[in-house]
Amino acid sequence: MEKVAQLFHLAETLTFPPSPDHSKSKNLPKELEGLHEKYSATCRLFNYQELLAATSNFLAENLVGKGGSSQVYKGCLPDGQELAVKILKPSEDALKEFVLEIEIITTLHHKNIISLLGFCFEDNKFLLVYDFLSRGSLEENLHGNRKDPLAFGWSERYKVAVGVAEALDHLHSEYAQPVIHRDVKSSNILLSDDFEPQLSDFGLAKWAPTSSSHIICTDVAGTFGYLAPEYFMYGKVNNKIDVYAYGVVLLELLSGRKPISNDLPKGQESLVIWAKPILNNGKVSQLLDPSLGDDYDHDQMERMVLAATLCVKRSPRARPQMNLVNVLPVADGKSLIDGLNQGLLNRLTVYSRLRRQ
Ligand SMILES: Nc1ncnc2c1ncn2[C@@H]1O[C@H](COP(=O)(O)OP(=O)(O)O)[C@@H](O)[C@H]1O
Ligand SMILES: [Mg+2]
Repeated sequence: MEKVAQLFHLAETLTFPPSPDHSKSKNLPKELEGLHEKYSATCRLFNYQELLAATSNFLAENLVGKGGSSQVYKGCLPDGQELAVKILKPSEDALKEFVLEIEIITTLHHKNIISLLGFCFEDNKFLLVYDFLSRGSLEENLHGNRKDPLAFGWSERYKVAVGVAEALDHLHSEYAQPVIHRDVKSSNILLSDDFEPQLSDFGLAKWAPTSSSHIICTDVAGTFGYLAPEYFMYGKVNNKIDVYAYGVVLLELLSGRKPISNDLPKGQESLVIWAKPILNNGKVSQLLDPSLGDDYDHDQMERMVLAATLCVKRSPRARPQMNLVNVLPVADGKSLIDGLNQGLLNRLTVYSRLRRQ
């Protein structure tokens, strides 16, 4: 009940004009005090009728995505602005995810992180409204019905790798209280018309621990194939679980394979287990998506391979922080991780030179 009261207040602080249901805001919990200004500057309260009209009554044709806990519809406002309207499936968790997603996402501002335009809470329905990203998710572009190797070639993949690294670096290092996304995966990376990626779906995000190296979560949530071993086995959470999941996304971009493919032969079902010996031997040509052909930048590919190798290390301490991940080019054209791992990079380079001879 307390949560519902919180939500009523949350909705009310954003209502223009104010909701008549003023009595419910009296017991405002401390955590929500002062959030009104933060929200009203960046997002608005939609009413349900407005969203019904925008999506033509949630017409099946406008359904653009289904996640574990929601359905997402394309919508259009009378002024022509396109929207993605996410309806959370009703559950106890829906309420928690709704509040948390609003709370966290409104504090984040980055070109590679989705913007929340607003939200709607009416009759136990929870809806979040975002900018619409025309190319859908990375998952659809790599493995699904938007797969088109001609449109989604090497430079687009590299652009996605760099953009997502920037988004995660921003989450992990730009704020006094950093954010751990906890569900980094290709279906939570959306692509704009020109393949600029945006990290989305902050329903599982958590504020990172500032006083200890990690927290223990009893609710291990996330997606098989992307879960770091220490999180999966012991519930240990710090920002290195996002680094691991990012490494899996890099492997998807490089190989075109899904993190878990039940249709592949035994031993190849898990992308990480399949890729590790290849990464360790440096036989990167075995890793690459055959649909890329020879159409890739060799230096960029090596950077991505190196980053993936380090990010999916079993031990969280062996994984780099996001700001060191090597797909982020720095001013002089070299990346920070080049400096850190020049030895490994040299081995890869020497190996690839040898192979070309
Ligand atoms: N802003 C958006 N623009 C276009 N498609 C979107 C947008 N948001 C979500 N989608 C689609 O809906 C799917 C589910 O959305 P998501 O926010 O990940 O929900 P869930 O929390 O249920 O996983 C995404 O994988 C994507 O295909
Ligand atoms: Mg999702």
